[in-house]
Amino acid sequence: MNLAIVGSGYVGLVTSVGLAANGHHVTCVDRDHSRVSLINHGICPLYEPGLDSLLQTLTKEKRSLIAVEDYNEITDSEVIFVCVGTFSESTNKTDFTNIIDAASQIGRVLQRAPDYRLVVIKSTVIPGTTEEIIIPTLEKYSSKKAGREFGVAVNPEFLQEGSAIQYSQSPDRVIIGEHDQKAGDTLERLCHELSSCPVLRTNMRTAEMIKYATNAFLATKISFINEIGNLCKNLGIDVYEVVKGMGCDPRIGDKFLNAGAGFGGSCLPKDLAELVLKAHQMGYEAQLLRSVLKVNDNQALRLVEIAKKRLGSLEHRVIAVLGLAFKPNTDDVRAAPALKVIPQLLEEGASVKVYDPVAMRQAKMILPDGVKFCASASDAINDSDGVLIVTEWDEFKDESLYRGKLVIDGRRTLNPEKARQVCRYYEGVCW
Ligand code: UGA
Repeated sequence: MNLAIVGSGYVGLVTSVGLAANGHHVTCVDRDHSRVSLINHGICPLYEPGLDSLLQTLTKEKRSLIAVEDYNEITDSEVIFVCVGTFSESTNKTDFTNIIDAASQIGRVLQRAPDYRLVVIKSTVIPGTTEEIIIPTLEKYSSKKAGREFGVAVNPEFLQEGSAIQYSQSPDRVIIGEHDQKAGDTLERLCHELSSCPVLRTNMRTAEMIKYATNAFLATKISFINEIGNLCKNLGIDVYEVVKGMGCDPRIGDKFLNAGAGFGGSCLPKDLAELVLKAHQMGYEAQLLRSVLKVNDNQALRLVEIAKKRLGSLEHRVIAVLGLAFKPNTDDVRAAPALKVIPQLLEEGASVKVYDPVAMRQAKMILPDGVKFCASASDAINDSDGVLIVTEWDEFKDESLYRGKLVIDGRRTLNPEKARQVCRYYEGVCW
């Protein structure tokens, strides 16, 4: 099939590559000229393990994936996936500009299309958005009626950065929120080609809510275990042992209960904040979800608090921060815990040395002046008075790196027993 993917961020690129690898001809549409050019040269514009080589094969050898800036080039596309961002980093608020722009451009494409086309919304949008904003825009610019001359479906994405390729090849479920049955049938056929996982068909707002509820639940698990971890620490209990015991209960399980510096990234904090705001606008105070955010706001800063307790004032102290990405295997620093920790250290008067295996370029664009970027973990650790581990990259897991050092671990990166033998002092953020 001829397929178009609008927006070449994480979700858009991974979706494009998955569909192209499955034999479809995929056209990526993005208004960012340099991104389009990189993709057409087979170069991945973001760091995601495995994506680079797949993109290279699909663009250069198989020629089944191309990127364009002009929507006129997708008039032959039978299915158009919308994967544009719905959040403004500068205002820190939901921003529908991209999605409205995409829907109006796609509307113009639909107007010229001689036959039925399907528009699939993969962008994360607050429940009701597809019905209330996207479909009216598509209808306005196409002068056609959804459900008759074109179909619409919502198909939220659940991939995790860092393991996106694996997930896209074997998702645990596919959610289809259909405007009309033909749209649902067409999308289900396409999804079944990719994987045999369970498919749940429902209405559009339910599909939109499934995405938010999933991320809100994941975030709740993390803040829950961080709170338990903070309590455990005061009681001299290892929260990781507690999770082993809790996890044996099949109603609970042990996944996503790694206590530490809290959640970051472009999705969990944003989706939760949007849901809390939506609830507030409807006159409902989402107290539990607010608390989840509140626990998370404080969690990363606990590393600095511990450093202060151990070192006294941080004034003129040299602190090494290991890990800038919000989690390993990505260069994404959006809402990364390190971005809370570093300004606080500077505020306390510390000199800050940082290192991350892949996220240095991204971090340099946003970290305040005065931060020293180091060439390696050992370079950052050398001559430091204290080391804060904020992201659990594999290369930070070697205890011998920290010989004689004071280490505060935000991610259970080190084996506490081994670390205690090697380090001058070792403490976990909540163990
Ligand atoms: C998250 C969801 O996990 C995906 O299912 C979803 O598709 C995606 O958001 C999205 O909405 O697009 P992602 O942001 O890539 O994926 O990252 P996660 O693996 O969920 O990690 C989020 C944060 O939680 C990271 O900072 C991580 O370090 C932290 N975390 C995760 C913990 O602190 N403890 C855990 O047990 C797990």
